Amino acid sequence: MKLKESIESVRKTFRADSDPFPKDIRSIEALRVKYLGRKGLLAALFSSMKDISDKERPLAGSLLNELKQEINSAFSVNKESSESNQVTHDESDYTLPGLKFPVGYIHPVQQTLDEVKSIFMNVGFSVVYGPEIDDDFHNFSALNFPPEHPARDMQDTFFIDSDTVLRTHTSNVQIHLMEEQDPPLRYIVPGRVYRNESSSFKSYNLFHQIEGLYVDKNVSFADLKGILTYFVKRLFGANTQMRFRPSFFPFTEPSAEVDIWSESRGQWLEILGCGMVDPEVFKSVDIDPDVWHGFAFGLGIERICMLKYGIDDIRLFFQGDKRFLEQF
Ligand code: PHE
Repeated sequence: MKLKESIESVRKTFRADSDPFPKDIRSIEALRVKYLGRKGLLAALFSSMKDISDKERPLAGSLLNELKQEINSAFSVNKESSESNQVTHDESDYTLPGLKFPVGYIHPVQQTLDEVKSIFMNVGFSVVYGPEIDDDFHNFSALNFPPEHPARDMQDTFFIDSDTVLRTHTSNVQIHLMEEQDPPLRYIVPGRVYRNESSSFKSYNLFHQIEGLYVDKNVSFADLKGILTYFVKRLFGANTQMRFRPSFFPFTEPSAEVDIWSESRGQWLEILGCGMVDPEVFKSVDIDPDVWHGFAFGLGIERICMLKYGIDDIRLFFQGDKRFLEQF
């Protein structure tokens, strides 16, 4: 009987193909398709059943079913071991902690700038910016630093040429503002400033200031004290002790510096300079000092940030060291 021989030959090839039984999913699937698939060898044998005589059919049918069972059971016996195989081949360790994706940090100087800005914006100040490269007039002369005056030595200057400097303070923007706009004015000016001094733990060639300028009728030193007291209490806390200490700046009269008490260091620390806009400054920008009065202040951002977080070296802000930056 031809069909019987065909069944035996498929059995033989299956035994050869499945010893050893394949381990990876692809080969197992290929083996399954070859024998059990819709167009597989077994299906072909079943379809040739119709070509044989009624007499032979029962025997052929039972032989064929036996083969089908043998093949099926080979697959189910090997199923378990192939699945457990897969687990050992997957080298993932699901108990490990997840990967951390690197995220950036907002620089502590920027965080402090943002905080100071928002405190002043809450009481009606607007934010403007000004040039970092400026002429002698805006950085010095108009601010009542006469040529050759020793007050210019207060700020060691980077000169680009004899009339052009990297601004030594944000006070240059006071002059730009008053040239361009009529009072009343109520602005803060954040920005970079430059000083030609050797760097150390407490000074660096580059740092950030926020300038404040308030010009209106009937402005007094009491207004200045009120605004700066509000600012210090908001930034450092309501219980912060502060004092106004008389000082000197060419462009303010009277002038003062504000100190806050540091409990941890047991000393007063200076955080800003301020004063009433000097009438000479108003004259240099054609504002009538008999009508208009104003106050100005300038605070160093790095210095405030250092006090707030207990940082003891200003150079850390400029080194881009992640170990420092990621703490804020
Ligand atoms: N420009 C001054 C400085 O850099 C600070 C200051 C600004 C003082 C405004 C008074 C008024 O030291």
